[in-house]
Amino acid sequence: MATPSTKLIKLGLALLTASKALADPLPEQPEWRSNEPLNPGFETGNLQGWQVVHGNAFGDRSVTDLVSYWGGPFHQDQKHFILGTAQAGESAVGELKSGLFRARSSLSFLIGGGYDPDNLYVGLVRDRDGQLLLKQTGTDDEALIRIVWDTKKWAGQKVHIVVHDNSTKESWGHINFDDLRLGDDALGNGRGLTFQTIGQANQPPAHRGQPACSLYAKDPLRPQYHYTQYQGWINDPAGLVQWKGRHHLFSQFYPDAPFWGPMHWSHAESTDAVHWRELPVALTPKAAGPGDDSGRFTGSAMVHGDELHLVLTDYVDTRAHPDAVQENVIVASSRDGVNFTLSPRNPVIPAPPAGAPAFFRDPKVFHDPTDNSWKLVIGASNGAQGQVRLYRSQDPFSWSHVGVMYTGDESTDALWECPNFFPVDDKWVLFYGSKGVGIYETGTYNGSVFVSEKRGLVDAGPASYAMQWYKDESGRNLAISWMANWPTSKWPSRANGWAGQQSITRELFLRADGGLGSRPIAELDSLAAGPTKRLGPLRVGNKAVTIGNTNTARLKLTIDLRATSASAFTLSLFQSRAEATLLTYNTSNQTLTLDTTNAGYGQAGKWEAVLAKPADNKLTLDIFLDRSVLEVFVGDGTVMSATVWPRYQESRSISVVGEQGTVVLSAASVTPLGSSWC
Ligand SMILES: *[C@@H]1O[C@H](CO)[C@@H](O)[C@H](O)[C@H]1NC(C)=O
Ligand SMILES: *[C@@H]1O[C@H](CO)[C@@H](O)[C@H](O)[C@H]1NC(C)=O
Ligand SMILES: *[C@@H]1O[C@H](CO)[C@@H](O)[C@H](O)[C@H]1NC(C)=O
Ligand SMILES: *[C@@H]1O[C@H](CO)[C@@H](O)[C@H](O)[C@H]1NC(C)=O
Ligand SMILES: *[C@@H]1O[C@H](CO)[C@@H](O)[C@H](O)[C@H]1NC(C)=O
Repeated sequence: MATPSTKLIKLGLALLTASKALADPLPEQPEWRSNEPLNPGFETGNLQGWQVVHGNAFGDRSVTDLVSYWGGPFHQDQKHFILGTAQAGESAVGELKSGLFRARSSLSFLIGGGYDPDNLYVGLVRDRDGQLLLKQTGTDDEALIRIVWDTKKWAGQKVHIVVHDNSTKESWGHINFDDLRLGDDALGNGRGLTFQTIGQANQPPAHRGQPACSLYAKDPLRPQYHYTQYQGWINDPAGLVQWKGRHHLFSQFYPDAPFWGPMHWSHAESTDAVHWRELPVALTPKAAGPGDDSGRFTGSAMVHGDELHLVLTDYVDTRAHPDAVQENVIVASSRDGVNFTLSPRNPVIPAPPAGAPAFFRDPKVFHDPTDNSWKLVIGASNGAQGQVRLYRSQDPFSWSHVGVMYTGDESTDALWECPNFFPVDDKWVLFYGSKGVGIYETGTYNGSVFVSEKRGLVDAGPASYAMQWYKDESGRNLAISWMANWPTSKWPSRANGWAGQQSITRELFLRADGGLGSRPIAELDSLAAGPTKRLGPLRVGNKAVTIGNTNTARLKLTIDLRATSASAFTLSLFQSRAEATLLTYNTSNQTLTLDTTNAGYGQAGKWEAVLAKPADNKLTLDIFLDRSVLEVFVGDGTVMSATVWPRYQESRSISVVGEQGTVVLSAASVTPLGSSWC
């Protein structure tokens, strides 16, 4: 194993060379030192040992010791790193080259900056023939993440690293770099912590059709029982329905990059809403060229006659089609639930009502018992406030405008997306996306107008947007949400070629206080992949007690608040000596805080939810851990979702600790969970 001093020794050599270089021009790298790259982490404060091959993107001003930027810390190693904008701005181009060294079994480095596989990358080049052996682009994030390469094939050969910037873009046109490591040093920090094996070079191409679950298992960042695409981008879940026994999950999908692009609909089906089988892409955008982002936006399913219909937004990019209506409603239909054909009657709603803004999206069909008709709600705006408009029909094709069902106030955005509307018990529930979060309102409805009585967050965590509801064949109100949102700037999985995951299937219900609650569906029990470890009753004081060591599991806790004397207790998840995600409950004000400040890569922050005081004084937490995904369900119906990206393989421990007293867990259990794909 590497020792912490290895890098310091290398640094010492580099410093010696640096002071000598003040007097002499940089000498040819002597053969005896070519096994090691010089100045691998730029700790000399300059480009000593590196060579500017061409261009003006890189120079001594590229080496910086800045620690943070507008979006958080850079996460460099030690003090210095290469910030791609520091020398000559975003649009400058150029290439930086390390000294020669001999490849060993592994190589790793830190990368940040723009995503552009052709023009922005760190590359490994063989000296003999100049062949580019491996390359990795950025993720459109300034913060550095570690890429680990298996270089056994080239071990012993003379190679060098290039930092290549041929992007003239004014936004994300640069690349950041730090801390080149070789051999055992490349695999861990030398203090018992092993880097996650991240990088596009570790993602084998998928075979046609369903990617093997072994490919899903191999990626340390990839959730195993949350829906993801093997490569590419997904956002809103759409078209959710149970039809002829099968649950259908479509997703907004862009296959060519881990970024939003012309929208397709990916498609998966399931018999239990837990285990998914990938089906062919259901909808593709009209042939669009560069500069045309037209695509098939979010919509919903409608079972009518013997067919499954998708009622959705057709989005037309008016940059490419200046005279077109930006958003209208179309239908695609299927007899077999696999092959969807666009209706010859499209568009079924050709434009927003006269005089209304062009923003008009995400039709969600529901059956309305108040007049026994099909209705749809659609996200709209009056220019200043978000709105939901209502349409009525007896079939999928002949919608007439009922009117504005509901208008928001100044506390939400002027544009609302993804509205859903349905009855639960004696109330109606409306939820929609605004300001990058899901907001619900519960109240009453008379067939044309909704009156709100209560408002709250669909999910109190940072990773939930565009939730879609559906009623299953047994009458339950189910929902799946996109586990991300637009304001989030950090997507480390882009380094592995994918972005976005869907939540587990949730059941919605009305809470005791009239708000909207969520709980995991019962079928999730079928994910158990081993025996449940049961602990408790457990009394924990200010010395942390470990209750598990896993990052793919379900953790259930019952806390006896009456017997608990602690002022707060904290659950550490995805924990190692270096990092952890913290979930703290303050017993005096019933606040649950999720803290990802020191969780690893990704979005750092704190999110709070005030919980209902349980009548029986038993606080229950039902927590789903899935490698980079966290979903916390509280007994009162509160849910907090987050994505978490630990840096080290050892960050899997689960522990609990009390503060100023004892926390009493009357029960605790950890169940290992398997995959939705095997
Ligand atoms: C850099 O980009 C220019 C313009 O797109 C292109 O012509 C050139 O071939 C690129 N050079 C390299 C080395 O990729
Ligand atoms: C899909 O459906 C259309 C219309 O029913 C039909 O023409 C086409 O052959 C079908 N394609 C497949 C692959 O089944
Ligand atoms: C529903 O309520 C609104 C607002 O009070 C009213 O204008 C409308 O006529 C009512 N519709 C029905 C069908 O009762
Ligand atoms: C818990 O909340 C109370 C009341 O707001 C506050 O005084 C206390 O400092 C909090 N405890 C912790 C550990 O944050
Ligand atoms: C409750 O406690 C949390 C965590 O200690 C704290 O951040 C929050 O401000 C407190 N809320 C109130 C209303 O005191």
